[in-house]
Amino acid sequence: MTKIITVGLGERAYAIHAGSGLLDRAGALLKPFARGPVPVVTDAMVGELHLARLLDVLGGAGLDARPVVLPPGEATKSFAGLETLCGQLLDMGVDRGGLIVAFGGGVIGDLTGFAAGILKRGIAFAQIPTTLLAQVDSSVGGKTAINARQGKNLIGLFHQPRLVIADTALLSTLSRRELLAGYAEVVKYGTLGDADFFEWLEQNGPLALAGHDDAMVHAVAHSCRMKADIVARDEREAGERALLNLGHTFGHALEAATGFSDRLNHGEGVAIGTALAFRLSVRLGLASGQDAERFVRHLRAVGLPSAIADIPGPRPDADTLIAAMGHDKKVKDGKINFVLLRGLGRTFVTADVPDAALRDVLNA
Ligand SMILES: NC(=O)c1ccc[n+]([C@@H]2O[C@H](COP(=O)([O-])OP(=O)(O)OC[C@H]3O[C@@H](n4cnc5c(N)ncnc54)[C@H](O)[C@@H]3O)[C@@H](O)[C@H]2O)c1
Repeated sequence: MTKIITVGLGERAYAIHAGSGLLDRAGALLKPFARGPVPVVTDAMVGELHLARLLDVLGGAGLDARPVVLPPGEATKSFAGLETLCGQLLDMGVDRGGLIVAFGGGVIGDLTGFAAGILKRGIAFAQIPTTLLAQVDSSVGGKTAINARQGKNLIGLFHQPRLVIADTALLSTLSRRELLAGYAEVVKYGTLGDADFFEWLEQNGPLALAGHDDAMVHAVAHSCRMKADIVARDEREAGERALLNLGHTFGHALEAATGFSDRLNHGEGVAIGTALAFRLSVRLGLASGQDAERFVRHLRAVGLPSAIADIPGPRPDADTLIAAMGHDKKVKDGKINFVLLRGLGRTFVTADVPDAALRDVLNA
């Protein structure tokens, strides 16, 4: 089963292909966009597992694929990583008529997209995301960035890919923890605008996570469709796109307070963050306790954390978390913006949250 979703951005519109085994068709899919050397940027982990096959497929389609292998991990999304990558791409002779391929998780996608966006004032790129998080979130929508000492994703630009190829078969080599991190973003889509999808996930999410092809393809394609539609309506996050940050204000604060360490990954932060957004909404009388409980029940059923107390090690306190939220990109005019809920599938953005309610929820 393959699904094709269009991100409707006029002359910059592009297709997302989602299916199991799509890597075998990558050559044919990329060929119309490629000219000259085709750099394939990946990290050493993905490189070891899947690069040989991709290079074979691209070579078979007559493409001059040239691998660039970077170290895995968030540290690669840095000025140093950018310098290394840009140097290698320039040495390879990429030009503005060419195509750069990002083959990896969100780190490789964000870094490669940014490099493509600034090299020679903009070179086309394609995404072949290899983590669930990258397939349902980071590869779609054109946000690219590297991290600064002052915070994550602070240096970047919008640069839309020409094509996204999400092969769900690649997810079979991901650890359960990485798979669940991406699943937290899938659940987010079920929570922010589509209660029917949430119900589908309650029934089929465990199947998808257990490796059932059709269920995973549906989960990925549906998530991409939701993100694509929002991005098409609000590419630069002037309004509606901010809803995609559901759980992220809390989540980023938790990640920062735990030192971006192994104690908590991004998806786990989003899962707990969304549960906190739900609890805050209940505390403010906006959402029903039953909806919030149903949401938490699903997180627990698949093995995702849902409370600050689920994070191993010392508990981050409310002051630390509120200070971290104040440094978030989503702060506007000195006020922290929250995505809150009126129930499953009904979200809105507000900066109007009383400090006492916020503290109650962070201390609970
Ligand atoms: N641009 C956006 O809109 C956006 C959205 C969400 C997140 N992000 C960014 O995405 C990044 C996180 O992405 P991620 O979770 O994919 O992290 P990642 O790219 O670091 O990948 C996680 C780990 O999984 C490994 N890996 C990747 N694919 C694999 C596979 N198929 N099998 C086995 N191992 C594999 C990687 O080598 C890495 O060690 C963060 O930097 C975050 O800021 C960007």
